[in-house]
Amino acid sequence: MRAARLLFPTSTFWAWISCALIFSAMAVGAADYPAWLRHVPDADRKRTNPYAGQSDAVAAGSKLFADHCTKCHGADALGSRKKPSLRTPEVQKASDGEIFWLLRNGDLRHGMPSWSAIPEPSRWQIIAYVKSLGEVPATTHQAPSK
Ligand code: HEC
Repeated sequence: MRAARLLFPTSTFWAWISCALIFSAMAVGAADYPAWLRHVPDADRKRTNPYAGQSDAVAAGSKLFADHCTKCHGADALGSRKKPSLRTPEVQKASDGEIFWLLRNGDLRHGMPSWSAIPEPSRWQIIAYVKSLGEVPATTHQAPSK
């Protein structure tokens, strides 16, 4: 009897701890993994950028970015009030094929338009430009307004 009475609070304690751990792991997973990445088919993920790292393509991409993207993502691609930075590790480490998929499909429900009207080579140039910017530590990103 005494053993059973001692056991009960202990196991309840561990049940709460495991629940807390599982939920915090889920919250972290959701925060550092943009949802759209989960939807990219493997074939698209693996597509390679024909312009990757080419300086003339980066320059062309920079102009296209200024025309189409800065109004939401900012001239430095660090994001604006409610729009994400494109210089987070998540975006900078995403494959060019994954970003290409997002530019074609957009994420309209979350306010990201589709850019399928921009010719494919230009979209690859934009991606070459975004990747040329590199990562910026999270502390310098604009805080999203709640
Ligand atoms: C009308 C505003 C708007 C414009 C213009 C726009 N975007 Fe976005 N973009 C968004 C929003 C909002 C999101 C966040 C979508 C989400 O939460 O899934 C986003 C997300 C992204 C992401 C994924 C970021 C992440 O952390 O998951 C990339 C990459 C991106 N945009 C690139 C571009 C590029 C390149 C252009 C120009 C061709 C562009 N966007 C133009 C609003 C915009």
